[in-house]
Amino acid sequence: MGYSSRLLMSPDTIKRIGILTGGGDCPGLNAVIRAVAKTAMLQFRMEVFGIEDGFQGLIENRVRPLSFRDVSGILTRGGTILGSNNRCNPQRYCTSQLADGTPVFSDVTATCLQTIRGHKLDAVIVIGGDGTMCCAAPLVEAGVNVIGIPKTIDNDLFGTEITFGFLTAVATATEALDRLHSTADSHHRVMVCEVMGRNAGWIALTAGVASGSDMILIPEIPFDEDAIGEYITQRMEGGPGFAIVVVAEGARRAGGSQVIARIDPTSADPVRLGGIGQRVADAIGTRTNVEVRTTVLGHVLRGGMPIAADRILATNFGYHAISILMEGASGRLVVRENNVFSDVDLLVSAGRQRLVPTNHALITAARAVGTSFGDRATLARGASGTSSVV
Ligand code: F6P
Repeated sequence: MGYSSRLLMSPDTIKRIGILTGGGDCPGLNAVIRAVAKTAMLQFRMEVFGIEDGFQGLIENRVRPLSFRDVSGILTRGGTILGSNNRCNPQRYCTSQLADGTPVFSDVTATCLQTIRGHKLDAVIVIGGDGTMCCAAPLVEAGVNVIGIPKTIDNDLFGTEITFGFLTAVATATEALDRLHSTADSHHRVMVCEVMGRNAGWIALTAGVASGSDMILIPEIPFDEDAIGEYITQRMEGGPGFAIVVVAEGARRAGGSQVIARIDPTSADPVRLGGIGQRVADAIGTRTNVEVRTTVLGHVLRGGMPIAADRILATNFGYHAISILMEGASGRLVVRENNVFSDVDLLVSAGRQRLVPTNHALITAARAVGTSFGDRATLARGASGTSSVV
């Protein structure tokens, strides 16, 4: 395999590695930690160190040795035994605040390098999404041997067709949507369900199709509130008399902007989306005579045990990360493409998001069974006769 970046040392001399989990947590993090650590310990007799709370641990020199026991029995456990952090970017680290509250940022990359050298880490396995890979990029540029592993429920990391955590989030959202179905049916209501995903609609699209939701609103297809109202009216009057609408938190109406829940000025990625579900519910309420209720799944999607598919994916990613490191790779992100595990340049993936293509096969299939994307395409074919309920 030809790596664009090579280790600056012989793979045989890699004896101590660090593992770090960065960004928002997700199901499967512990499964990856286990796979990385066990492969490193059992196959290569390495010493493995856990870096606590993502890059915060590198800045504050919080690094602890991991024993085989520490990483046993954690395959199914939610969260991360190492802790995580989605507010800390060493290149833009909030070191203080002015009297008026304005944050003061500094580049503390040198402190991270000092921690890595202090613990004599020959390589660092960085588990995270696009923000975490951005944070790892300066370490790669400074000559640290870094291997990235793609994590996020949002499934939006550039360079891989799937990130671990996504399938569990989809399963959780699907179960919630199934439950909303029965109560929507009983009360002849419209149930709007907002799901996470940042600027990408992968969770909404996939869970929406899996649950047979009637309408799926994703950031990649800006919606038309009047078209939504007309579709819902058709379904209520001529169809089954209830509707399920799944809304990605990053969705927006055509010509409008995303709804921001809060801004954290001290965070490297300060925008937190949220609130579009209620906006959509209000838009439906003012255009129809239907009772509408809103559910926001939020962090429920990030919690709990990984499903079997994520445990398998996490184990493959973890094993693959150590394998390519020991083949001489550095500065690479392990990925899956066309169902095959490989790796890409971490610097190319860092900070880049993979959105849903508007011609994605799942969108085509959903439209074919009458699912609306809040535009006029499905309306033209009529919503009343076609129930997309599975
Ligand atoms: O990236 C994962 C994610 O859960 C997004 O879907 C969501 O927008 C964001 O993190 C929420 O972040 P926080 O945990 O800071 O509220």
